[in-house]
Amino acid sequence: MYHDPDLIRSLAEKVGTPFWIYDASVIRKRIADIRHLTSGEGLQARFAMKSCPATRVLQEMNAAGIWIDAVSGNEVLRALGAGHTPGNRPPVVCFTADVFRDNALEVVLKHGILPNIGSPGMLAELAKAGYTGPVSLRVNPGFGHGHVNACDTGGPSSKHGIWHEDLLATAGAARQMGMEVVMLHAHIGSGPQFQELHDNLERLAGVFGGWAGDLPGLEAVSLGGGIPHNYRDPSSQIPLEPLRELFVRCRERLVQAFGKPLRVEIEPGRYYVAPSCSLITRVTDLKSTQTNEKGQGARFAMVDAGFVDLVRPAMYGSFHRIEVVGRESAPSEQNVVVAGPLCESGDIFTRDDAELLVPRALPAFAAGDLLRICDAGAYGYAMSSNYNSVGRAPQLWLEEDGRVELISRRETLEDLLRAETREPVV
Ligand SMILES: Cc1ncc(COP(=O)(O)O)c(C=O)c1O
Repeated sequence: MYHDPDLIRSLAEKVGTPFWIYDASVIRKRIADIRHLTSGEGLQARFAMKSCPATRVLQEMNAAGIWIDAVSGNEVLRALGAGHTPGNRPPVVCFTADVFRDNALEVVLKHGILPNIGSPGMLAELAKAGYTGPVSLRVNPGFGHGHVNACDTGGPSSKHGIWHEDLLATAGAARQMGMEVVMLHAHIGSGPQFQELHDNLERLAGVFGGWAGDLPGLEAVSLGGGIPHNYRDPSSQIPLEPLRELFVRCRERLVQAFGKPLRVEIEPGRYYVAPSCSLITRVTDLKSTQTNEKGQGARFAMVDAGFVDLVRPAMYGSFHRIEVVGRESAPSEQNVVVAGPLCESGDIFTRDDAELLVPRALPAFAAGDLLRICDAGAYGYAMSSNYNSVGRAPQLWLEEDGRVELISRRETLEDLLRAETREPVV
């Protein structure tokens, strides 16, 4: 159904291009995988909602008993609006950040959300606001991993978390301010290789275990997210069973170290949603440059989606499979660079992390044909922007029974101008 070319073409006629289409069955399959990973005693899964904060997706998580990791005041409010329970007994929604910005502190206080703080000075901000509840501390354990450097969130160059050697002093300061440390947390990177993730999580459990005896109020430990998705080969995904065994083993080790039944959490984002969504875009033209003394010529397929829609290739050189709608299994006949409409030369879907063009081998197609940019559900729409005053593209939701719903409409000029004003300030 998801890949039915006639359906995709008819949706393109109805809502225009580009558009995003989510497949409910794929999200549900990935939710089932994570539920299996956390099916052992004392294990709890969250969803790092920043990867895909659509209310429809948050509702799926809520229905499946998946808790939420939110990173802004508005993310917390979006989660509550989608039905997730406020309060910290249990902390169904947790707020993780290194900075309280905008309404974050106010929302944490008002809704009793567990603050997971990544910078020691945040304790004083909480205290100043009169907070004396439980806190979680996000730790930078000194090591980490990532599919690119920007996604490596542990180690001396990472801005995230409280440096491990400062952890006990921060916990002591919390206690003095009347706040109990109930959770330790670390998210040490996104999208690494399986073995690296496995080894680092095991190492992390060891680091946490080393603080047994110093944190009497501890109830939980979070090992963060970072479960990879294979963007290049959908048929080869991470082996779930060894990961499930690892989480069980980590919990056993922590329970033994702390001498009580701790909850062990994980909070993937990408894994749940990456394969569930495609960005559909229309080819507007094909054109070529010729090789000269400056460099090699290329054949460009111009499309109407750009990095305002899906920024990962332009930002990290991330790879997304691209298919020609209706010619998915046709043989490749051309090498093309797929480029968007923005007034920015980096508006390219086929490039590497050194910003070099990497032409893609694709079947023949012509202006007017549709391309499917695959596995765009994580950090896709969530990272889209209004650069060039292009409105965000609509999001569609395909149900398992074939119904398709519009879950967010195309943004209009009025949407873009809504916050503009001329008000005297001084
Ligand atoms: C604190 C935290 N938790 C979880 C995640 C989710 O990571 P991923 O989408 O790779 O699972 C992130 C992503 O950067 C994060 O910063």
